[in-house]
Amino acid sequence: MVKNIKPKKKNRRLITSALPYINNVPHLGHIVGSHLPGDIFARYSRARGYETLYIGGTDENGSTSEIAAFKLNVPIEKFADKLYKEHKKIYDWFEISYDSFSRTSKKIHHETVKEFFETINKKGFIEKNKMKVFYSPTENMFLPDRYVVGECPKCGYPDASGDQCEKCTSVLDPSQLKNPKSTISGGKLEIRETEHLFLKLDSLTPKLKKWIQSNKYFREQVRNLAMGWINEGLKPRCITRDLKHGVKVPLKEFKEKVFYVWFDAPIGYVSSTKEITKDWEKFWKDEKSEVYNFLGKDNIPFHTIFWPGMVIANGEFNLPKNVVGLQYLNYEGQKFSKSKGIGVFCERLPELKLEADVWRHYLTQIIPETSDSEFRWKDFQERVNSDLIGNYANYVNRVLNFIYTKLDRKITKPASKELQEIDKNLLKKIEEKRKSIGDLMERAELRKAYAEILELSSEGNKYINDSEPWNVIKENPKRANNIFYISAFLLKNLAILFAPYLPKTSEKVWKQLNLKGSPSCSGAWEEAEKDFGKEHEINKPELIFKKIEDKEIEEYRKITSQGIDLTELFK
Ligand code: 2FM
Ligand code: ZN
Repeated sequence: MVKNIKPKKKNRRLITSALPYINNVPHLGHIVGSHLPGDIFARYSRARGYETLYIGGTDENGSTSEIAAFKLNVPIEKFADKLYKEHKKIYDWFEISYDSFSRTSKKIHHETVKEFFETINKKGFIEKNKMKVFYSPTENMFLPDRYVVGECPKCGYPDASGDQCEKCTSVLDPSQLKNPKSTISGGKLEIRETEHLFLKLDSLTPKLKKWIQSNKYFREQVRNLAMGWINEGLKPRCITRDLKHGVKVPLKEFKEKVFYVWFDAPIGYVSSTKEITKDWEKFWKDEKSEVYNFLGKDNIPFHTIFWPGMVIANGEFNLPKNVVGLQYLNYEGQKFSKSKGIGVFCERLPELKLEADVWRHYLTQIIPETSDSEFRWKDFQERVNSDLIGNYANYVNRVLNFIYTKLDRKITKPASKELQEIDKNLLKKIEEKRKSIGDLMERAELRKAYAEILELSSEGNKYINDSEPWNVIKENPKRANNIFYISAFLLKNLAILFAPYLPKTSEKVWKQLNLKGSPSCSGAWEEAEKDFGKEHEINKPELIFKKIEDKEIEEYRKITSQGIDLTELFK
């Protein structure tokens, strides 16, 4: 009925989501800022027939997790084991379809980092140099990065950490901070010089610049940020730290040091891939393989400069085809804060007894794709009640109920000559929308694509309203059948198009339509062009969603604003 739209080529896809630190349990900002968009894109890629891997894991090295464990007086290994499980539980609850969700504490990761470093070193992109580091006389130790807070030299934010200002995303060296203090004791710090290893980012500049400028997929914000750093002039970046916890540097004179967490973490994408497939090199090195990175705003410099610099220096791995850098999510006009009870804390969501798809529906619409976005409970309620229930679930219901109750659950294929103008217009619209939605998805414009799918569902409702089947059936049951054969065909298309966003719902609709296989399976998009054959019987329809009332919203708000206290996890 509708011409098949094939992607131009069937490459392999390796999709990554930034590896979260495990110093805390993730909140909604983390879900919407990388795990969910990466998942939607991975599900879409599988459905389009790309051989796809969605890769994630926890970033367990460096000072962030060390400080969190230290504060709770728990050994770091025990802390990390527990937090890994808490993270995994939440991503599973959201139906995030990771093919591998590994940990940077694993042996395979430490080995991979060592090899990656050795190649870069052999190729001459590492140099030794002296660095000014903070020394804390109170703690009697060097204090790197997150053990130090101070005023950002660029924007004046008072709580910038040693390696990056969270507010303006500037990448810093600890020694640039004004009025630095120890995060452990709050004590004043001295500056001392020690020897460290540096990645020669300066000599990698021409290749990085060429890659950034020639990439067709970056969003404007991502390209502008990256070019901003290039234009400022890249300097060699220190890749070692005076810490105990982390990946040991495989050089004799540096054996007391570990790698900087931002050196080892992105290599975690590779080790996480290695963990699940012997064919990992096909995904990373073959020219027919495309790498896509999904990440939050503060991770953009590391994924457009630092990690690609490492990749270029190493010379064996593919550079990403797209770096999908997202902005921040705020909560009712404020920043998420666990201690102040501001936000939605994911570990509480299962208590609300709402399906994950309800959340995925709303969160998709506030993915901060081009600017910061806001979570608002009122908006959540409205968008669920109007778009998901009033529009899509209503369409599902109308189509299936009519067929089940008025057409004795059967639809029969209309002959081409029986098709009226209104039918042909709808079929044309389905074809056009599949094309435009596919184009948007290819560019990872997931919000816009979702809006188009919802629009197509509205078209379905309009088609039924305009066709008035409840009147038609009295005089002309054959015409009523034709209307619903076409409506059901649109519903099948919607189930496939919605599947990356609302996977469970699409499965339910698929079952109620009595179709074989799954709307999420590899190559499912090709199924969308096939009609139901000469005759088709559907299953008994069931309600898929329930409206959200005002009083429920109040209850949800109360429950989810209190995240679990980490001390409770270690009782
Ligand atoms: O910002 C963060 O949570 C970092 N742990 C992200 C690391 S992404 C990567 F490269 F692994
Ligand atoms: Zn700043």
